[in-house]
Amino acid sequence: MKYVVLNKDDIAKDIADRIVSLIKTKEKPVLGLATGSTPLPLYEELIKRYKEGEVSFKNVKTFNLDEYIGLDELNDQSYRYFMNHNLFSHIDIDLNNTYVPNGLIKDEDPLYYDKMIKEAGGIDIQVLGIGTDGHIAFNEPGASFDSLTHIEALKESTIKDNSRFFASIDDVPRYAITMGLKSIMNAREIVLIATGKAKAKVISELKKGIISNDLPASILNKHNNVTIYVDEEANSL
Ligand code: PGA
Repeated sequence: MKYVVLNKDDIAKDIADRIVSLIKTKEKPVLGLATGSTPLPLYEELIKRYKEGEVSFKNVKTFNLDEYIGLDELNDQSYRYFMNHNLFSHIDIDLNNTYVPNGLIKDEDPLYYDKMIKEAGGIDIQVLGIGTDGHIAFNEPGASFDSLTHIEALKESTIKDNSRFFASIDDVPRYAITMGLKSIMNAREIVLIATGKAKAKVISELKKGIISNDLPASILNKHNNVTIYVDEEANSL
């Protein structure tokens, strides 16, 4: 696992370089995308590159990591809404090539999502954030390393962290559909971004290199192509 320390803007530029170069060299590039505040500078950078004519997203497919259970795409707290508003509506991607797990899933097996990723050729570059409790996507502490896409109950700490986006903590959904740790590990390349003081503790834990499902992100130690991008604050402990 490689650690790179840069400021927020340079993290966005570095990852955008990797993504643009993938799109330019691969016929059917597949991106794994994340929500939350962490990847926003990256999405702004990708929009900028598109507007400057450096890259087109016409042949790109994207798969998002997760979605809250019970929220539809019109709900402004849904991750589908987030992606449309923060990235997809500003670039030339075909919305039919953008996938977010179905938060309104009923009888369907969540594994449908891994099948779709496989049919698309697998994820070339997976972008990740990290929760203060070490979760990646919504794989909370204790999550199985063998999991594919599934429904997960959110931990109190995650509900609290995410309540800043909702009118009240009671409005935060208690369940999410999420790619599993194995789904994430199937990506050919992984970039994890951690910025700000709130992530310093979890990053210091991750740096110890101990692999345990108490710290779901530690599974990344087993992958051969992972870069952890941290800013000074996240790297401060
Ligand atoms: P954040 O969320 O980017 O809003 O900090 C990260 C995460 O929970 O994965």
